[in-house]
Amino acid sequence: MNKDDFENVIKRRYSVRSFSDKKLEEDKINKILEAGRIAPTAKNLQPQLIYVITSSKGLDKIDKVSRCRYNAPLVMLVCSNKDIAYNLEDYSTYEMDATIVAVHMMLEATYLDVGSVWVEMFDNKKIKEEFNLDKNIEPICLLCMGYATSDSKPSNMHFTKKDLKDIVRYV
Ligand SMILES: Cc1cc2nc3c(=O)[nH]c(=O)nc-3n(C[C@H](O)[C@H](O)[C@H](O)COP(=O)(O)O)c2cc1C
Repeated sequence: MNKDDFENVIKRRYSVRSFSDKKLEEDKINKILEAGRIAPTAKNLQPQLIYVITSSKGLDKIDKVSRCRYNAPLVMLVCSNKDIAYNLEDYSTYEMDATIVAVHMMLEATYLDVGSVWVEMFDNKKIKEEFNLDKNIEPICLLCMGYATSDSKPSNMHFTKKDLKDIVRYV
C-alpha cells in the first residue's frame, strides 16, 4: 500500500449511522481483528479484549444498553483489562491502549469498505452485566460495523473539522 492509499482511507472514513442487513464476511472480520492485534500498547502489555457480537441475542443486548447500533450486523465491544495494562501509582494506560486498538480496527474497516461508527453512548453498568464482564474488564467503546446503506452519508459534523491553525502550535 502506498502513501496515497492510506490518505484515501483516512479521508474516506466517516461515522456511518445507517447500516444494511448484509453480514460482514469472516475474512474481513479477521483482518479487522488482526489490525487490533498488532496495534501499539504501552510496554506492549496488550490489555485489549474484544467481544465480536453478531448473534441476534448479543445484538439485542447491545440494543438494551445503547440507542446507537444503527442496525449494524456486527458490534465490536472493545474492552481493556485494567489488571494487565501499564499501571503506575496514579496513572494507567488501559484506556489509551484500547482506544488505539479501536482506531486501528476502524481504519482497517474503512480500507476494506466496511462502514463503522464509534459509540460511547452506552450504559456502562448494564453492559458489564449483560456480557458478564469480569471486574477488571472495562468497556471502552462500541464499534458498530457493517455495510452502509446506499443513502448513508456523513453528518454535518463530519464536515466541520477545525483548521490546523486552531489545533496546532509550533514551538
Ligand atoms: C470518543 C467518541 C465517542 C463517540 N460516541 C458516539 C456515539 O455514542 N454515538 C454516535 O452516533 N457517534 C459517536 N461518535 C462519533 C462522532 O460523533 C463523530 O466521529 C464526529 O461527529 C465526527 O464525525 P465523523 O466521524 O463522521 O468524521 C463518537 C466518536 C468518538 C471519537
